[in-house]
Formats: sequence, structure tokens, C-alpha cells
Amino acid sequence: MMKETKEATVDLKSVKSPKKTEDYAKYFQAPSLKDAKKRGKEEILVHYDFNIPEDMQNIGKGKRYHVRTYGCQMNEHDSETISGILQAMGYTSSDSVEDADVILFNTCAIRENAEDKVFGELGHMKRLKNNNPNLILGVCGCMSQEEKVVKKILKSYQQVDLIFGTHNIHRLPELLRDAMFSKEMVIEVWSKEGDIVENMPKLREGNTKGWVNIMYGCDKFCTYCIVPYTRGKERSRRPEDVIAEVRDLARQGFKEIMLLGQNVNAYGKDFDDIEYGFGDLMDEIRKIDIPRVRFTTSHPRDFDDHLIEVLAKGGNLVEQIHLPVQSGSTEVLKRMARKYTREHYLELVRKIKDAIPNVSLSTDIIVGFPGETDEQFEDTISMVEEVKYDFAYTFIYSPREGTPAAVMEDNVPMEVKKARLYRLNEVLARIGLEQNKKLQNQVVEVLVEGESRTNSEVLAGRTRTNKLVHFTGDKSLIGQYVHIKITDAKTWTLHGELVSKVEV
Ligand code: SAH
Ligand code: SF4
Ligand code: F3S
Repeated sequence: MMKETKEATVDLKSVKSPKKTEDYAKYFQAPSLKDAKKRGKEEILVHYDFNIPEDMQNIGKGKRYHVRTYGCQMNEHDSETISGILQAMGYTSSDSVEDADVILFNTCAIRENAEDKVFGELGHMKRLKNNNPNLILGVCGCMSQEEKVVKKILKSYQQVDLIFGTHNIHRLPELLRDAMFSKEMVIEVWSKEGDIVENMPKLREGNTKGWVNIMYGCDKFCTYCIVPYTRGKERSRRPEDVIAEVRDLARQGFKEIMLLGQNVNAYGKDFDDIEYGFGDLMDEIRKIDIPRVRFTTSHPRDFDDHLIEVLAKGGNLVEQIHLPVQSGSTEVLKRMARKYTREHYLELVRKIKDAIPNVSLSTDIIVGFPGETDEQFEDTISMVEEVKYDFAYTFIYSPREGTPAAVMEDNVPMEVKKARLYRLNEVLARIGLEQNKKLQNQVVEVLVEGESRTNSEVLAGRTRTNKLVHFTGDKSLIGQYVHIKITDAKTWTLHGELVSKVEV
């Protein structure tokens, strides 16, 4: 039997069960990429009054939830909020989907293979749903902001009970109640954002590294990218709210903070009452008693001199910058609408390296953008050689429906794209090893994060430059800072020996 859909705000009494998928669009709050693209000048409101309605505070008592996260750190952090809300409703977490009463997939839309994975796993959930008709299966995150995804779920994934968007997380208690009691597919995806909701509960993973959002959304509209549509326009959290959160984490004993935004360098540009940018924010966070502060991601275009000056002060501001380049060819960068040239980027790198001598740079690169020639790809290779990145995330271009690049003529065969990716990764590996070799026999400061993923006898941690270090030591060192002498430098990992514990 097909489920009826439920609109969250319109009275459904008069609505008959629609027969065709297209009809559904009239009856629920469906996403629209076109609406998502509209950027208004409306004032951004900050809400400080989030609370769980009384009748929902115990709704999850004795029940379990499982959140599965795909995508970037922003999504990981959203999952911490989702978990926090569920716990505030009385739910407890479950490591497995098998015994969960609520399963939420927090999804990513950045590339096609990310989406394919979600659809595959949603398919597997059908069995659980058949075994337990009271199970609530929900889809949230960036995929739910796409019309085509919502339509596909309606048509072929009737086991889904709830779909909510990236701007609707604070509505989770009400949406969950609707999904529980209505037995209809509940869909609420706001295409147009606007507000910032503070004070939502968060269940942080561990107490060593903490994520802190400084802004939401993205206004850059790089031609290949879906994020400005799925995350809405740029909205900065008020500096006092960010600082209060960092201070609170410091008080709780967190050892490292990661500031999050799709383009942190645009922080504060949307304030109309104060002149306050990312450099100013970092200059204040620098004074907070927390040993390490990182940020991601910074768009090269808005990386200004003031920020470089502040970062050069060091201290808890670590000498590591993720600076996505995407391509080394000015022509390709232009078609990507990145709004900088190869020369601008290299000039920025020169300034950063001059100001922060031991800086470690990492990047994101897309190969096989529509029309990318061999020569243009070679420009990317020479860029990598010139900058000497310590690390890079590399991707084959994936067309996203509704973005400008999706309708550009793409004459690069997939085999060529794959060969370019392979070659690029080889060059990156060679340079990565060269960079790591420089640390041979040096003593580095490492924050111990846990056991190594591959060997529970070995501990794993990160340097200030975010390099992974393996060493043998007592488990009591987890969550502590230690000095490690590097004895063996591999391409993506360093191996070393414990020298001493560091008091911070
Ligand atoms: N806001 C970040 C990027 C977030 S997405 C920034 O601008 O730096 C992470 C990376 O995914 C991007 O840097 C880009 O390299 C890659 N990416 C985004 N859209 C893509 C697409 N359509 N195909 C392939 N890679 C993509
Ligand atoms: Fe996407 Fe560009 Fe925004 Fe990054 S800056 S999220 S790549 S549109
Ligand atoms: Fe993916 Fe959305 Fe992040 S598309 S990369 S989860 S912002």
C-alpha cells in the first residue's frame, strides 16, 4: 500500500490520496533547487529559545535510535545535534540498526556515488521495517534538499517514514511525533532558510576534539557544487555565541577545536551592525585556553591579509590550512566560477608561507571538469608540485542536477578522467612522502586520539599540522598531548617513539 504524504502546515482533510508521484509535490513541503537559489536581503534572526515541547520529552523513553552520517564534518556535527535532540526526548543510542526504534540517515549530495550509497543502504532497511512496523526510518541532510531525491524516495522507497531538510533539524521533535502517530510519510524540507537556531542540545563524540559551527550556508555558487542549494545562504553565528561555545568546551577539558563553515573566510560578511570578520574572530579565540584551534574550509578568494597576520601569531592557532584549489588552470577555474586565478592562488600561498614558516597546506582537487584539456590538467599537476601540498582530497567531477556545470558540454571520456585521477594521486603521494621525510628524527607534539584503526596495540594521534602518527604507548595517554620522536616517515603516516608527556 502506498502511503499518503503529510503536509506540515496545510490542512490535509480535503486532500485525497494522490495516485501519481508528481501529485505529491502539492501536498507536502517539497524542496526546490530553484527556490534554494534565491538569495534575499531578509534579516537573519537568531533564535535562543529552542526547547523540546513537554509532551515530547519522554516520548523516546525505553527506545533506541541510530544515526548514520554521510558527508562532511558539517554533517557529522549536525548528527551530534540530532543525537542531542533525540537524547533530550528520552531516546538512548544504539550502535546497530537492528535494535533501533528510530533510524536516521544524515545524507550527503556532493557527488553521485555519495547518493548511490545512501539509496543502496535505504534498500537494505526494508527488511527491518518489515520485521518492526513501528520502526521510524528517516532521511535528512543534503540529499533531502533535492527534489529529485524526494521524488525517488516517494516512488521507490516506501519504507521511509520521514524526510526533513538541513534547515529543519530544530523541528525534529514535532516531525518525529507526526511520523509516529500519522503513519503517513512526513516530509518537511524548507528550501529557503533564514534563521539561526542556537541552544540546541548536542551529543558530542568523545571529549577530546570538538566541532564548532561559525557559519552556515554558502553563497559562492561554484558551478559544479550543490552545497549553496542544499545549505542555503551564508549566515554567521554571532561572535559572542561562538566564543561562548569555545570557552565552554575549554572548560569541559576539550583539547582541540575545529571551527566549521563551508567558507569560513566569509564569516561576518552578513553582519549589518558590526564590522567583524574571520580574522577578528580568530584573534579572540586565540586568547581562549584551549591548546589547538583549526578551521575548515577556507575559500582562497576571501583569505585576507588580516587573517594571515592573526594566524602568524601561532599559539593555539595551528600551522595547518586547508585551502581548496580545485584546479591549477586559470581557464578551468573561471568555468568553475572560483573567482581567482592560478597566479592569485600562488601569491596567496607565498604570503601564507612567508608569514607561517612551517605551515602545512592541504587541498581539494577536481579532475575531469567539463572540457578540461590535457594541458589544463598538467597545470593542476604543476600547481601541486609548486605548492607541495602535504595532503589532498581528489575527486572526479560528478555532475549535479540543477548546477550550471551540469549542462556544460563534457567531452572528457571517463577513462581519461580516471587516468588523470590516478596520475594526480601518484604525484601527491610522492610529494606527501617527501614532506613527511623532513620530519624524520624530529620530535613532534601529538594529541593522542585513540587506538590505531588497524592495530589496537598501537596508539594514533595527530601533530599540529594534522599528520597521523602511530606509536606504542599506554592507553591512559588517550586524550593527552605527548612528544613523539619520528622514526619512520611513510607516505600518509608517521611512526614514532614516545619521548614524554606534555603538560598543557
Ligand atoms: N566548501 C568547501 C567544499 C565543500 S565540498 C570549499 O569550497 O572548499 C568538498 C569538496 O568536494 C570540494 O572542495 C570539491 O573539491 C569537491 N566537490 C564539490 N562538488 C563536486 C562535484 N560536483 N564533483 C566532484 N567533486 C566535487
Ligand atoms: Fe561548494 Fe564552492 Fe561553496 Fe565550497 S565554496 S561549498 S565548493 S559552492
Ligand atoms: Fe555533503 Fe552537504 Fe557536506 S552535500 S559535503 S554533507 S554540506
